[in-house]
Amino acid sequence: MSDVVRVDIQDQVARVEINNPPVNATGQAVRQGLLDAVAQIEQAGANAAIVYGAGRTFVAGGDISEFGKPPQLPHLPDVYQAIEDSSVPWIAAVHGTTLGGGFELAMACAFRLAQKGTRFGLPEVNLGLVPGAGGSQRLPRLIGVDAAIDLATTGKMIDADELQELGGLDGIFEGDPLEAGLAFAADLPARPTKVSARDVAPVGSDYFAQKHAEIKKRAKGQSSPLDNLKAIEWAATLPFTEGQPKERQLHLDLRDSTQSQALRHVFFAERAVSKPKAIEGGTPIEINTICVVGGGLMGAGIAFACLQAGYRVILIERDDDAAKAGQDRIAGLIEGGIKRGKISDEKAVKLRSALSVSSDYAASASADLAIEAVFEDLAVKQAVFQSLAAHMRNDAILATNTSYLDPTDIFQGIQNPARFIGLHFFSPAHIMKLLEIVKLPTTSKDVLATGFDLGKRLRKVGVLSGICDGFIGNRILSAYRRQADYLLMDGCTPRQIDRAMRDFGMPMGPYELQDLTGLQIAWANRKRQAATRPAEERYVRIGDLLCEAERFGQRSQKGWYQYEEGDRTPQDDPFVTDLITEEAARAGVTRRDFTDQDIVDRLMAVMINEGALIVEEGVAERDLDVDLVKIHGYGFPRWRGGPMHYGEQIGIDKVKQAMADVAAQSPNSWRVAGRLS
Ligand code: NAI
Repeated sequence: MSDVVRVDIQDQVARVEINNPPVNATGQAVRQGLLDAVAQIEQAGANAAIVYGAGRTFVAGGDISEFGKPPQLPHLPDVYQAIEDSSVPWIAAVHGTTLGGGFELAMACAFRLAQKGTRFGLPEVNLGLVPGAGGSQRLPRLIGVDAAIDLATTGKMIDADELQELGGLDGIFEGDPLEAGLAFAADLPARPTKVSARDVAPVGSDYFAQKHAEIKKRAKGQSSPLDNLKAIEWAATLPFTEGQPKERQLHLDLRDSTQSQALRHVFFAERAVSKPKAIEGGTPIEINTICVVGGGLMGAGIAFACLQAGYRVILIERDDDAAKAGQDRIAGLIEGGIKRGKISDEKAVKLRSALSVSSDYAASASADLAIEAVFEDLAVKQAVFQSLAAHMRNDAILATNTSYLDPTDIFQGIQNPARFIGLHFFSPAHIMKLLEIVKLPTTSKDVLATGFDLGKRLRKVGVLSGICDGFIGNRILSAYRRQADYLLMDGCTPRQIDRAMRDFGMPMGPYELQDLTGLQIAWANRKRQAATRPAEERYVRIGDLLCEAERFGQRSQKGWYQYEEGDRTPQDDPFVTDLITEEAARAGVTRRDFTDQDIVDRLMAVMINEGALIVEEGVAERDLDVDLVKIHGYGFPRWRGGPMHYGEQIGIDKVKQAMADVAAQSPNSWRVAGRLS
């Protein structure tokens, strides 16, 4: 008998327990165990078979580590077909997260019972795949085409109540799955038509064309949502015996696709990112109360995120009026959560009572951690930490949210440097997933581990960064923008560059994005960097000239584009195109044509190059850290796997060539990473 699938037959009822920790994934041994169980149970002449999961969940999916390898027998669709076709009715008694292969198994059973709160879904789409064992073919037959498309093209989860409402369950129970299965088997209803033999309710003639248009728009270049739609269309138009093999073939083909490889890379990276070498042996310190200093744009968002994660928060502002304004900002975020149905009235009461606001630093005394988010000004930040240090315990953790300043300078003169850390949030801080956890040379492992722990509780992706100008994310951003400006000078327009990067999969191009967020911050940065910029480096001053002309972006109705009142659509502006050609002429540049591909190649090359330098210098430990920073902080398309993965996918030689072109075009302006030279 199999180790991972145990069969126990008593009183003609078979109990089939899947025990393959941690999530009972359908690896080869589980598949073989289930197939053997079908035969054994039939032979024994049982009346019913109950399949359930040991531990905290029913089957939560396939074994992703097998996806990179040739599939091993027996194949999952054959196993599930044997269950569906068995003369003995199978009852799935599920709990936990019943996802992918687990949901497919439940659909192949004659009956489905779920513990209250069980979550169901087909997450294959998020790995660039379609289900591989009949999920896309059985689900529309079980709950209808509309609901099946909704689940399969988004990967979203629904709970047992919702699935019951859609007609997908025969019962919901509380308590033990096996007990519930036994109770059901004791009074077994007549066996319904197999799910695979059911008819799909017809849809209108242009239904799928419309869905296609809708989903294509939403997918922004990712192909798996459309693949899932196509598979469901097979279910709606073909018999199961034809649709199922087509689904299986597509699943196998997609396993080798670049998009699925990229998405799987990100999946594994997200698990590895919280375990950098630098925190090995570190133990997180318990944090209950967090003091946030500065209740502006970032501070309010950080405070709100901390409240939602269950911390007590003390907000400190520079005077009573500013404190009131900060409190109002946080109250506004809570209100917004209520309006969108994300926060219940009861929860809102809790959040409000966990917040206190003050303009007196004495209020910080009880905090375990302080996060500073005041003006980006060294002297102001230094003064803040002096005041905090005067009131807080001398082992309380001190964190700065600075974007560009060197944390070592910020903490100068404060005692116990092992407790210093950077916690760099992204705007809006309660929404953006990325948290750069910045290590100073003095930061202790325990304090770093606490940063990662906090990130997890805030449901963020924490990425370790060392100190450099802009840390990982903004440093790559400024290389990217610098190269985009070189392209402007050499022959492109903002429109062309924006379009090329959108088509590549970025949510926005670099110029429309600057207009949206405002040109001032980057301007201030360039001024700050001027002192250390090598004299021989090529410098494009178009952005500075726009700022001098008070063109700060959408808020001033003009920036790289112009905007009509109340309209965010960027319109080309002759002022900008003339300025570009004038500046090029002044610099003696002969403008030429670039294809969209040239633009992508060059912009990606500098991103990859900067990422490689960052890893080379030890600012990031691994390429995957760089990938996750760009994906979770800057909208880099997940299905491209991040810049470093993308570079590997297109091949290092191509990147080298593009970087050589970039360097030749703008001599003395790029330091090329070791692996690209
Ligand atoms: P902001 O100007 O909206 O807020 C700053 C707040 O700090 C103001 O409410 C101000 O009253 C308060 N403040 C100033 N001096 C203070 C003092 N001595 N004690 C207490 N409160 C004081 O600025 P924002 O955008 O929230 O930025 C704050 C920090 O976060 C800066 O270091 C910035 O570089 C960093 N940051 C900003 C991001 C952004 O997208 N805006 C992203 C990531 C980091």
